[in-house]
Amino acid sequence: MIRSRLLVVDDDAESCEAVAEVLRAEGYMVATSQGGHAALMLVREHAFDVVVSDIRMPDLDGVALLRELRETDPEPSVILMTAFGTVEAALEAIKQGAYDYVGKPLRLEELLLTVRRALEQRRLLRENQQFRAALQERYQIPNIVGVSSRMIDIFKLVARVAPARSTVLITGESGTGKEVVARALHFNSPRAVAPFVTIDCVSLSEGVLESELFGHVRGAFTGAVGARRGLFEAASGGTVFLDEVGGISPNTQARLLRVLEQQEVRPVGSNEAVRVDVRLVAATNKDLEGQVKTGHFREDLFYRLNVVRVHLPPLRERREDIPALALHFLRKYAEANDKAISGFAPESMSRLEAYPWPGNVRELENAIERGVAVSAHPILLPDDLPAHIVMSTPAGPNGAVAPDSLPLLSLGEVARHQIVRVLTVTGGNKKRAAEILGVDRKTLYRLIDRYRIASARPPAEP
Ligand SMILES: Nc1ncnc2c1ncn2[C@@H]1O[C@H](COP(=O)(O)OP(=O)(O)OP(=O)(O)O)[C@@H](O)[C@H]1O
Ligand SMILES: [Mg+2]
Repeated sequence: MIRSRLLVVDDDAESCEAVAEVLRAEGYMVATSQGGHAALMLVREHAFDVVVSDIRMPDLDGVALLRELRETDPEPSVILMTAFGTVEAALEAIKQGAYDYVGKPLRLEELLLTVRRALEQRRLLRENQQFRAALQERYQIPNIVGVSSRMIDIFKLVARVAPARSTVLITGESGTGKEVVARALHFNSPRAVAPFVTIDCVSLSEGVLESELFGHVRGAFTGAVGARRGLFEAASGGTVFLDEVGGISPNTQARLLRVLEQQEVRPVGSNEAVRVDVRLVAATNKDLEGQVKTGHFREDLFYRLNVVRVHLPPLRERREDIPALALHFLRKYAEANDKAISGFAPESMSRLEAYPWPGNVRELENAIERGVAVSAHPILLPDDLPAHIVMSTPAGPNGAVAPDSLPLLSLGEVARHQIVRVLTVTGGNKKRAAEILGVDRKTLYRLIDRYRIASARPPAEP
């Protein structure tokens, strides 16, 4: 076991030594420094996990020291000791990235607990970093994150069909990632150099939709003062993404069918057809087969669209993806907001894993975006998450997911789920994962093999 290295900084030699003694008695390696400048020199030469510093020092005070420390690499966690009257400075310091503060005169238990928490947090951050590195290596479809077997099958399918011209129908509940997949199809195809044009079929009235899609000639209708090229023409060589395709009117359905059958569009008000070379990707969260049965959607158009089907399962059916997605969004919004938040408290993660996510990935993304915005800590705490998510999901012991929130799974699926989860938490460390799972490493490798976990990687090319 590697001993954690601590540095105690206080201009008062006696109290500096007293604090150091207490920490040494806990088994930490502890150095001391009387004053901020000396501390900075030490930190630049030796790596420390945690710096415990007085806030009021004549040469370089605790807050200024903190600012300097944030530039060092590796960056230690900072705990400030504040006497009466400096609490405000301490709060300011937390905003600037201090881990926490403890009041003076020191209470032993409080100090030890805070140090322990800081070390635990560092361990988590380290694991998350390893985990991210592993993720990036594994998945080559940028912006789509997933580790579940169902998502891996989707990655493979996307990689296989992206380069083709075949029409793809993407189905799935709202927020499951249909648009993300549509973009992946475009950007992983030779069409990536040409436009990707999205059109939301339900937001436009029938007339506007038709002229948007197919264009119109001058005077085709009142207000059509000039001719206009439609999106199909504008997207020539590229991809047209028809979102919410279940919402288009019978008339537009007929026109669309013609485009697909003849590879040409006729602008509204024109008799002349224009050849177009586009790939069509359509998406719907409706039951399109059902709409065909009830006569609301043309069967022939359905078959034209449904050449390749990509179905995105709801997030609650692929809970293994939650930690990976959560980390992806955390990193995205931390970077966008310039915040140094690099992980989740274990409790927060178990809440996220247990919640049913009716709004799917979009809801998860929103929850984390908000969490990052409100958080004042280097890791996301349960308090940073929307109350209804935290409340609806009482976490079990060790952050286990409440049993009745899990779908009914076979033993094999449960085993796979648990292995992926432990590998995620250990940052891919097989030795630790095997210890946690209570099997030897050889057995773990066999299981990884059997459940296709190691080969969890979409092909680079079809
Ligand atoms: N696998 C994923 N990896 C990373 N981000 C994802 C993934 N799936 C979805 N997202 C993100 O979640 C949000 C919702 O995804 P998207 O817009 O693709 O959903 P949708 O299925 O089109 O939803 P709707 O039916 O409501 O239009 C987006 O911000 C998207 O970037
Ligand atoms: Mg969408």
